[in-house]
Amino acid sequence: MAYSPKVMEHFSNPKNVGEIKDADGLGKVGNPVCGDQLFLYIKVKDDIITDIKFKTFGCGAAIATSSMVTELAKGKTLDEALKITRKDVANELGGLPPQKMHCSNLAADALHNAIHDYLIKQGRESPP
Ligand code: FES
Repeated sequence: MAYSPKVMEHFSNPKNVGEIKDADGLGKVGNPVCGDQLFLYIKVKDDIITDIKFKTFGCGAAIATSSMVTELAKGKTLDEALKITRKDVANELGGLPPQKMHCSNLAADALHNAIHDYLIKQGRESPP
């Protein structure tokens, strides 16, 4: 199984790792099959994601995709960030081996969950 140089770069030197204590939105996702878990925190001002951090308990591909998704979403409006798809994340990383595609799903899902969490807390969306 070969990883692209971009995956290796984000795995070896992941961006935006950590936790935001007073986050405005939190996305939590897990994959029951591999047991990996991902927490993604956002700070929002004027509907722009001003800060974003993640903690991933998972495989190298999950770490690389989390790192990439935070880089893609930082500075974006909520609407723009909601449009970041699972595929975008994998493409930006130069592709992922087929059996690792679910890892990129986790990262995009966590981002979307964090945004929905924020909108629900603001009363702009109803809870699921
Ligand atoms: Fe499950 Fe990567 S093996 S997230």
